[in-house]
Formats: sequence, C-alpha cells, structure tokens
Amino acid sequence: MAEELVLVTGAAGFIGSNLVVRLLEEGHRVVAVDDLSTGRLANLSLARAPHLTGRLQFDHIDVTSDAFDALVARMRPNVIFHLAAQVDVRVSVDRPLEDARLNVLGTIHVLEAARRHGVRRVVYAASIAGYGDPPAEQLPIDEQVTTPPLSPYGVSKRAAGDYVLAYGATHDMEGVVLTLANVYGPHQSTSGEGGVVAIFAGRMLEGAPCTIFGDGEQTRDFVFVDDVVDAFVRAGSVPEAAGERMLIGTGVATTVDQLYAECAAATGYDLPPVRGPERAGEVRHSVVDASRARTVLGWQPWTGVADGVRATIAWAEESARG
Ligand SMILES: NC(=O)c1ccc[n+]([C@@H]2O[C@H](COP(=O)([O-])OP(=O)(O)OC[C@H]3O[C@@H](n4cnc5c(N)ncnc54)[C@H](O)[C@@H]3O)[C@@H](O)[C@H]2O)c1
Repeated sequence: MAEELVLVTGAAGFIGSNLVVRLLEEGHRVVAVDDLSTGRLANLSLARAPHLTGRLQFDHIDVTSDAFDALVARMRPNVIFHLAAQVDVRVSVDRPLEDARLNVLGTIHVLEAARRHGVRRVVYAASIAGYGDPPAEQLPIDEQVTTPPLSPYGVSKRAAGDYVLAYGATHDMEGVVLTLANVYGPHQSTSGEGGVVAIFAGRMLEGAPCTIFGDGEQTRDFVFVDDVVDAFVRAGSVPEAAGERMLIGTGVATTVDQLYAECAAATGYDLPPVRGPERAGEVRHSVVDASRARTVLGWQPWTGVADGVRATIAWAEESARG
C-alpha cells in the first residue's frame, strides 16, 4: 500500500491496535479513533515508539457522534478501517438495541462520513458469527453459505457488512468486507469473540483452574492477529478488493481440547480442565475457507496455532510483569 492517510476506528482495541502499529511501520499516517469503552490506550504504547512518532494522531471520539463526522471532514483520510463495535455476543442477546445501535447505526455513521468527505475506501471487520451454524456438509464455510446468524451480534455484523457493500455499489466509494474467524493474539482481552486463548493464557499463568464448557470437541478456526492485520493492510490497497466480501481464517479446525493442550504446553501448566455444561446457542463446528482472500488479496495465514499461542503467552507474561 503506497503511503496514505488512513483512519482506524476501534484503534485502542485488540485487533485495531495491532493494525495501527503495522500501518505506521509501513509508513502511513494514522488517525486512531476510539471511545475507550473497552479499548485501552496502553494497547497503543508500541505505536508511540520513537521511530513511529509524528505519524500517529489519537482521537478519543465515539464513532456515532458529530465529532466523528467533523474529524473525517477535517482529516479527509484515504481509507477508513472500521473496527469499532460492540463485540460481546452475550451483550447482544441481553441488550440487542445497544448492539444494533453501535454495530449497525454506528457503521452507517461511518459510511455517511466517508461518503460525504471523499474517503476512497472503507474496509469493514465482519464476523464469522454472521454465518450461523451451517450443517457439516457446508464446512468449511465460504462466502456462499447462507445459514442465518444465531445471535443478534451475528445479525448486526452481517447487516453492517451488507451496508458497506451497498454504499460501495451506490456511491463514489469502495467497500470491502473481511469476515474474520476467531482471532487471537497480543492485546486481546478475556471478553469478546476469540477470547478463549486470552482466558486460558491468563488463568494458566496464574496457576488457576480453567473451565471447558461442553465436551471440548467443538472446533474453531483460530487465526493469529498478525495474519489478520496483514489481510486488512492488503484490503486497504488491492484495487480488485473493491466490492468484495472475503473470509479470513486458517482453514484448520482446532478443538477446544487441543487449544487447551497448546496453551498448557506453552505455559508449563499441568492441571486438567474443569468440565462445565455445554453453553446454549454455541456453534458446534466452525472452520473457514479463505480461498477468495487468497485469490483477491494474495493473502494467506502463516502462523500455526502452536506458534501463535506461544507468541500470545509470551506477550501475556511480559504484560503481567508490567
Ligand atoms: N476478536 C475476534 O475474534 C473477532 C472476530 C470477528 C470479528 N471481529 C470484529 O473485529 C473488530 C475488532 O474486534 P476486537 O476483538 O479487536 O474488539 P475490541 O473490543 O478489542 O475492539 C473494539 C474497539 O472499539 C472501541 N469502540 C467501541 N464502541 C466505540 C464507539 N462508539 N466509538 C469508538 N470506538 C468504539 C472499543 O473501545 C474497542 O477499543 C470488531 O468489529 C469485531 O466485531 C473480531
């Protein structure tokens, strides 16, 4: 991606903060927006490293506010990476209005600002939750799968992605949707979607017991955050990505028991898991076919779960030391 002015929403969150650092390292100027509702400024400490300073601006702003529109009008970024969201599935079930207000209306706010102020491209972070629980014969999930989402979160993320593509089709701007599998890595908190790695890492490092809900044979496609960030950077610049919805995952189904074993090996933890009841509404198996992203973006994941878990735990150990 040639040097550009880019804006990242949700920039102090898990994926957003990793993306900001990568964009700065590639020489871009970055406007980082976050209302710090769940994000932490500490996540941006790497982005403030001496060799990166001068190209990062942080704005403590809610994307649904008039201040956000004014910021886009003033800065006129070339690309907006829209990651700010309500990311907790359980919150979406308990408070669906709150979820839709940010995930759907908030995304329309961002798109309106982009359209009004000449932003070339909006890249949106959608979720595998938007594909519900497809039958075994439809796995791995590709972009043609049409099973309905199981949660209000899945619905809101899916709808917001549809809005991004509709704006691209009807206005002088480009929309790109990356649908992410279960992302994990440094800066992840223990809530949110792929949080199980962060939960296991945190508890194992403390020597505390860890609970696996259900039989542990449920599978997920765990994709390391560096690989996800690489997909975003490509999605910001590859011309052919305009109008595309692409799944981002490894194609490898990992059981929760396997993940537990990887985390235990990386932390030297030797307690067996506590077995809890299966959680209602949980998807049984989830794995992604990312061929479309490979074709369009030239993207592929290069981090296996063992390496990714080791890197995540090394980060967790370092941050626990302060
Ligand atoms: N983590 C995953 O496994 C995963 C999987 C699929 C999709 N996603 C999507 O990726 C994006 C980033 O997720 P994450 O895991 O980094 O979550 P996160 O909670 O760490 O990051 C979201 C950020 O958005 C900020 N935010 C929330 N409301 C805001 C508002 N009104 N204005 C400005 N900022 C606001 C929060 O403070 C937080 O920093 C989300 O859109 C999420 O739906 C994540």
